This record gives sequence, C-alpha cells and structure tokens, in this order.
Amino acid sequence: MDLKIKLAGITFENPIWVASGTFGTKGQEFEDFIDFAQVGAIVTKTVTLLPREGNPPPRVVETRSGLLNSIGLPNKGINSFVSKELPELKKMPTKIIVSIAGTSLKDIEKMIKKIPENIMPDAIELNLSCPNVTHGKTKYKLTAQDPQATEKMVKIAVGTAKCPIIAKLTPNVTDITEIAKAAKKAGAQAVSLVNTYAGIAIDVEEMKPVLGNVVGGLSGPAIKPLALKAVRDVYNSVDIPIVGIGGIVGGVDVAEFMLCGAGAVQVGTANLIDPDAHKRISKEFEKYLILKGIKKASGLTGKLKGGRTA
Ligand SMILES: Cc1cc2nc3c(=O)[nH]c(=O)nc-3n(C[C@H](O)[C@H](O)[C@H](O)COP(=O)(O)O)c2cc1C
Repeated sequence: MDLKIKLAGITFENPIWVASGTFGTKGQEFEDFIDFAQVGAIVTKTVTLLPREGNPPPRVVETRSGLLNSIGLPNKGINSFVSKELPELKKMPTKIIVSIAGTSLKDIEKMIKKIPENIMPDAIELNLSCPNVTHGKTKYKLTAQDPQATEKMVKIAVGTAKCPIIAKLTPNVTDITEIAKAAKKAGAQAVSLVNTYAGIAIDVEEMKPVLGNVVGGLSGPAIKPLALKAVRDVYNSVDIPIVGIGGIVGGVDVAEFMLCGAGAVQVGTANLIDPDAHKRISKEFEKYLILKGIKKASGLTGKLKGGRTA
C-alpha cells in the first residue's frame, strides 16, 4: 500500500499527522505506543514570541458531545523552543511542522527569524486563531475571522520563512472559503482546517461557567460533520491543498476527509483518549483502501461523488 502523499511540495510517508496541542511537546508520552516513522508529521504545540502562562483553570471539560478546552497556548516562548525543543524534534524520524501564533505582524516576523536555518522545520503551521491586535478596527476578532488580517499575516510569514507555510483556520466564521482565499492570495502553500468550535459549558449547581476562561473550543467526533463541510466548501472553491482536522478517531474518518478534498489529515483529541490512536487509525485506513481496491492513498483526495456544498 502506498500511503505517501505530496503536499506543499513535501513528501509525507503517511497522510495522517498529529494535531497541534494534543501530542505533548515532543510526543515523548507516546514513544512506547507509536513508531514515529509511521506518523506523517508532528505538528508541535503552538509557540508564541514570549512565554505565556495560559488561561485560568479549569481549562478542559468533557461535555456530552465533545471536549471543550480553553488552554490558552501556555508555552515557554520561541527562544526556549528553538534552543531546547526544536533540535530534539528534528532528530525524530518524521516530518516536523512548527505551529506558531502571534497577535501582530511583527510577532510573526520576529518568531520566524529566530528559527535557525540548520534546524529549519519541514513547514510552519500558522495558527491564526489568535486575537488580532495589529489593526485597531479588527481588535476583537481572531486573525482568521478577517480576510484582510489573514492575508497580511500569511504574507509576512511567507515572505520571512524559508519553509512552506500552512495557514490554520478557525471554523468560527460565516464563510471559511473567504478566509482560505485570502490565505492563498498571500502565498500560503496549504490551509489546515479546522481549529476548535467556540462554545461554553455551564455548571448549573454553581450557576456559573465551567471553564475559567468562560469560552472554550469544542473538539472530537461531535465536530466531524461540521469540519467535513468546511473542507468540502474550501475544496469546491479554492485551489489550495487542504489538511483536514476535526473529530478523527478511526480510519474511515480519514477516508471521509480525503474524499471531501483533504490531501492529509491531523488527529487531535483522539490522542488524548488513546495513546495508540495514530497506529490504529493508520491500520484501519489501510484496511479501507485495500477493501476499496485503492493502491495509492493520494488517489482518494477529492473523489467524493457529487457533493457540492455551496
Ligand atoms: C487540549 C487541546 C489543545 C490544543 N492546542 C492547540 C494548539 O496549541 N494550537 C492549535 O493550533 N490547535 C490546538 N488545538 C486544536 C487541535 O489541533 C485541533 O485543531 C482540534 O482539536 C480539532 O481536532 P480534533 O477534533 O481531532 O481534536 C488543541 C486542541 C485540544 C483538544
């Protein structure tokens, strides 16, 4: 079975990657369960220019229909990441995609310039679900909720980076295709979608929100149909490679995202439930391909019959 796929000019051994924030810092918690050479790519936990403590606890709650988190990007900042974590990550036998986020164009430019050429990641995933404070008018929006802000941020990243840029989009918008178009216009080599869906959980006993930050992001199988629609919408209207994310827990889920137009996928919440998830999902996906008589995983992308969503 040929699981290799090519995306953003890079060849990946497997279309199934692990999603940002759900695989520890270097995946060390998973090394007893997973052969990293079988993982298409590790997308690292989002790093920011300066260290961040993250949001007040509680940060995670399991609802009846998915996991709600408001972790708030705790991390030690880019200096610590490039000196301690990235050199270790680069020794792993898989592709390394570094996730970065910033609230201004300057942040993004500075962060990318701090990545030494000798440990350049295979790609950078630009997490655009950060409040945009570059432009007064769009202050209260996330960058990926505004096509112009998206275009500006992706452009600065593409212009500065010496590796491909994958723009990670939020689904919390009216029309995600507008944002994907802006990312493409600015030169992004791919888009990854989706990040979590905004929601709240209520503690009726205490009559207050469960999460310290009030609002969190929903992930897990509950969001899969929504994420599939986002992928299909973008595939139908923007000519850019797509990395599908949202609620993947089995091999058939991978097939669904690829049929809708994803060239690769990321597994998130499933890693938190089952450290073996990647290995199992990969095997199940291969089984699906064999049953369908498909020899190359890449042959599945966009093969959904009909399926215009917009
Ligand atoms: C606990 C947790 C932490 C996350 N941290 C990040 C992060 O640091 N950066 C990011 O881009 N996405 C982050 N995400 C979002 C995931 O990468 C993914 O886009 C989302 O959870 C949907 O996929 P899933 O349903 O497979 O989990 C996080 C998700 C969870 C559940």
